[in-house]
Amino acid sequence: PPEPSFSARLIDWQRRSGRHHLPWQQQTDPYRIWLSEIMLQQTQVATVIPYYTRFLARYPSVTNLAAAPIEDVLSLWSGLGYYARARNLHRCAQVVTHDYAGAFPTDPDTLAQLPGIGRTTAAAIAVFSTGARAAILDGNVKRVLTRHYAIAGVPTQKTVENQLWALAESLLPKTELAVYTQALMDLGATLCTRTQPRCIDCPLRQTCQAHARGHATAFPTRALK
Ligand code: ADE
Repeated sequence: PPEPSFSARLIDWQRRSGRHHLPWQQQTDPYRIWLSEIMLQQTQVATVIPYYTRFLARYPSVTNLAAAPIEDVLSLWSGLGYYARARNLHRCAQVVTHDYAGAFPTDPDTLAQLPGIGRTTAAAIAVFSTGARAAILDGNVKRVLTRHYAIAGVPTQKTVENQLWALAESLLPKTELAVYTQALMDLGATLCTRTQPRCIDCPLRQTCQAHARGHATAFPTRALK
């Protein structure tokens, strides 16, 4: 029988071993998904959870957040770090309130125009809120892809990055986009880590080219200092 595809193995792994009860999962409100994605950009899940809960209790909708004084938003953000995220969050809430009548967009290209939302965050919001067929490519995903396909070259370089975006799009499954996208994020965060990858537990081990070479941590290629 043919080998299960890259996406099929990730989806199967997520269903068996993934987390399914985080506060921003099992719901599709783009405002809530956006808030979780911004908080998760540079902060771990366990740290984010209490902030996420407090934020939504104080600002149940994007219009509530837009109307709040920035000082209040910053004080509720205090401890999460990277305060530019909180300033962009507030600006984004004001744009959505005024330009979109408080209806949070779900289209990836529209989302990517908003303050603080890059291509990957836009795709994640679209995927988790509507199941859109959009690719993500953050640092974790770059690591998974460069290892699995033994792609040389520094992945922050434009030519390598463009190649990785094309690859990420070509790997998208036809269905179950949310499960697949969460799996890719979680694999990079939990098993396919930068310095101590746990290849033994990896659902992609059989086809991973870096693993086959016995040297997962040789990828991604590091920039010369
Ligand atoms: N990092 C960014 N988005 C995430 C998500 N949805 N789950 C876990 N880590 C993330």
